[in-house]
Amino acid sequence: MENSEGMGSAKNIPRRSFTDTRAVGSRSGTEALQRDPDGRSQKTIGSPFVEQAKMSARDINVFYGDKQAITDISLDIARNEVLAMIGPSGCGKSTFLRALNRMNDIIPACRVEGKITLDGEDIYRKEQDTVLLRARVGMVFQKPNPFPKSIYENVAYGPKIHGLAQNKATMDEIVENSLRRASLFDEVKDQLDKPGTGLSGGQQQRLCIARAIAVSPEIILMDEPCSALDPIATARIEELMHELKENYTIAIVTHSMQQAARVSQRTAYFHLGELIEVGETKEIFTFPQHQLTENYITGRFG
Ligand SMILES: Nc1ncnc2c1ncn2[C@@H]1O[C@H](COP(=O)(O)OP(=O)(O)OP(=O)(O)O)[C@@H](O)[C@H]1O
Ligand SMILES: [Mg+2]
Repeated sequence: MENSEGMGSAKNIPRRSFTDTRAVGSRSGTEALQRDPDGRSQKTIGSPFVEQAKMSARDINVFYGDKQAITDISLDIARNEVLAMIGPSGCGKSTFLRALNRMNDIIPACRVEGKITLDGEDIYRKEQDTVLLRARVGMVFQKPNPFPKSIYENVAYGPKIHGLAQNKATMDEIVENSLRRASLFDEVKDQLDKPGTGLSGGQQQRLCIARAIAVSPEIILMDEPCSALDPIATARIEELMHELKENYTIAIVTHSMQQAARVSQRTAYFHLGELIEVGETKEIFTFPQHQLTENYITGRFG
C-alpha cells in the first residue's frame, strides 16, 4: 500500500464502527439506512446504487472452497462512468471484478452467489454465452498475460473470433488503432510478428490493454492496469480511460489513490471482503464517512 498517498483527513465527521450497520449523518444527505431498489437494507455507506445502471451486483458472496472472500456486496456501475475500487491487499477487489465477467468460473474451487445483471440481464443465467459476455465485459488483468502468439495475433484474436473484420486491411486497421490507443504502436510497429511474451512487463500490459479494447467492449474491467507501467505510459493509459468513458464504462482496481482521484467519478472502498463505502470520488477522498475508509486514504491502515 502506498501510505504516502493519503489525500487528507476528514475532521469532525461523525463516524461509525465497522460493525455498526447504520450510516451516520452525512454531508450529502445519505439516508440513515441504505436501501436498494428492492427495498432491502444493506450496510454499505454512501451510494452504491445508481439509476439505470449498466451493471448491477446484488448480494454477492464469493467462496474459494470453504473460504469466503467476499460477503454480501451490492454495487451498481453506471453507464459511462469510471468506478475506482480501492482497499487493502486481499480485501477481494480482484475477486469482485472477476465475478463481473465470470472469470471466476475458470477457478475450480470458486463459487459465486448472488445476482449480477448487465443491461438488466442476469449474466449467470444458464443460456449466457461466456465468450460473448467477456467480449462485452472485457478485462485487463493484474499480471499481464499475453497469448503465446505474435503481437499482431494477440490483438487480432478477439476481432477474429467475433467476426469484426471482413478483410485483412480492416484487421490491420483495428490492430494498429488498438495498439495506438494503448500507447504501444510506435514501440512495436516493426515487430508485429514477434511474440507478445518477448515484450517487457509494461509493454505486455499495454498489449493486453490493446487486446481488451480491440473488440470494443461495453465495459472494461481493469485490475491495477498501471502497476507495471512507468509514469509516461501510466499518464497515457489514464488519458485513454478519459477517452473511453465517452462511450464505455470502466471499473478500475488501483492501489494508487492519486490515480483513483484522477480517473474516477465514483470510488468504492473494500475491506476484508466487504464493501464499506461508496461515493463520489471527491467526497470519499475529502469527507470519508467510515473510519476504515479514512484510515486507508490517510495511510493509517494496518
Ligand atoms: N484462486 C484463489 N484461490 C483461493 N483463494 C483465493 C484465490 N484468489 C483469491 N483468493 C483469496 O481471496 C481473498 C481476496 O483476494 P483478492 O485477490 O480478490 O484480493 P485483492 O483485493 O485483489 O488483493 P490485491 O490488492 O493483493 O490484489 C484473499 O484472501 C485471497 O487469498
Ligand atoms: Mg487483486
